[in-house]
Amino acid sequence: MPILVTGCAGFIGSNFVHTWLSSSDEAVVNLDKLTYAGNLANLDALKGDPRHIFVQGDIGDCALVSKLLAEHKPRAVLNFAAESHVDRSIHGPGDFIETNVVGTFNLLESVRAYWQDLPAVEKEAFRFLHVSTDEVYGTLLPTDPPFAETKAFEPNSPYSASKAASDHLVRAWHHTYGLPVLTTNCSNNYGPYHFPEKLIPLVLLNALAGKPLPIYGDGQQVRDWLYVEDHCRAIARVLEAGKVGDTYNIGGWNEKTNLEVVHTLCAVLDELQPRADGKRYAEQITYVKDRPGHDRRYAIDARKIERDLGWKPQETFETGIRKTVQWYLANQTWVEGVTSGAYRQWVGKQYGA
Ligand code: NAD
Ligand code: TYD
Repeated sequence: MPILVTGCAGFIGSNFVHTWLSSSDEAVVNLDKLTYAGNLANLDALKGDPRHIFVQGDIGDCALVSKLLAEHKPRAVLNFAAESHVDRSIHGPGDFIETNVVGTFNLLESVRAYWQDLPAVEKEAFRFLHVSTDEVYGTLLPTDPPFAETKAFEPNSPYSASKAASDHLVRAWHHTYGLPVLTTNCSNNYGPYHFPEKLIPLVLLNALAGKPLPIYGDGQQVRDWLYVEDHCRAIARVLEAGKVGDTYNIGGWNEKTNLEVVHTLCAVLDELQPRADGKRYAEQITYVKDRPGHDRRYAIDARKIERDLGWKPQETFETGIRKTVQWYLANQTWVEGVTSGAYRQWVGKQYGA
């Protein structure tokens, strides 16, 4: 039986499809709306592979989703689809409510109707896995313990509020209707196919282009960073062995300030692709206006997934960032594709001239 995954023309979803098909022959039906963040070039390596079936469409389109479920009879649905960028949620929160809240609600309803009518054995084995973020937990003080699964939600941005709402819906569909759900809350990812509106790919590509490296506020905000393939392996493990109804926090044990991240990135670039003028990339660092409501610190307590499911990250930040830089240097055609028209408009809107 195949699995149905949503949002897999995006960053994490496309990495998930590659990771999944590298170790399984279970086909993937990939439903993606192809918003600005969806990019079929992320899936180029799977062209002609019968194990990957791509369908363009919206998770909120109940008629389409019901048709796909009836046709492909998946044993699981994994929901990656979302509007995912905090800065865009500040400029325009409407799309975040539409996809992350209303879209997830519609998807849950389509899946519930399908699951309800499955034969007993398949009904028992079915899973709905919802991919979410650590940002739902809010922000931490320097001395606070990292987020555990029991931490109350305190989302601060339109993005994190919409993801928190979707997590609550998933939880309620389990408690009320018995839908066999799993939820994962992961920290900041980085790696191949990352759209350059987020910190790491933006800084990497700006550095190579000789442009400023914009640091919001004082650059002392802390994030926990996880190499994307580690996240994908964790999701596969939760799908395989996670306890129905449970939430699993996923993180890399890599708390770093934004300035540390940018300095590490610059140092790897200095080594792999030195500037023609012999200067250091870190000289391009520029402090810009802070993000409104900017969360100061995220940190993940990932002990539950390690203890119960035996998952641990394979990459350190140093190995992961080196692989990431190498991937971007080796994939110039992909970079040129994503940095064309619409992307330049976003950069103008967010960073000005
Ligand atoms: P992304 O923005 O790169 O990709 C999102 C994908 O969803 C795109 O391909 C887009 O076309 C698709 N999509 C958007 N709206 C849709 C809709 N209505 N119907 C169908 N498809 C739609 O995001 P990402 O960084 O790959 O994140 C994937 C998931 O992981 C999201 O749910 C996000 O909240 C979560 N997450 C991301 C991070 C991170 O660091 N990027 C960390 C933790 C959790
Ligand atoms: P981002 O990659 O947007 O992820 P998130 O906001 O979901 O954590 O940003 C990571 C951190 O980097 C966050 O603290 C904001 C900061 N940041 C900058 O300092 N400059 C930038 O140009 C961007 C995009 C982010």
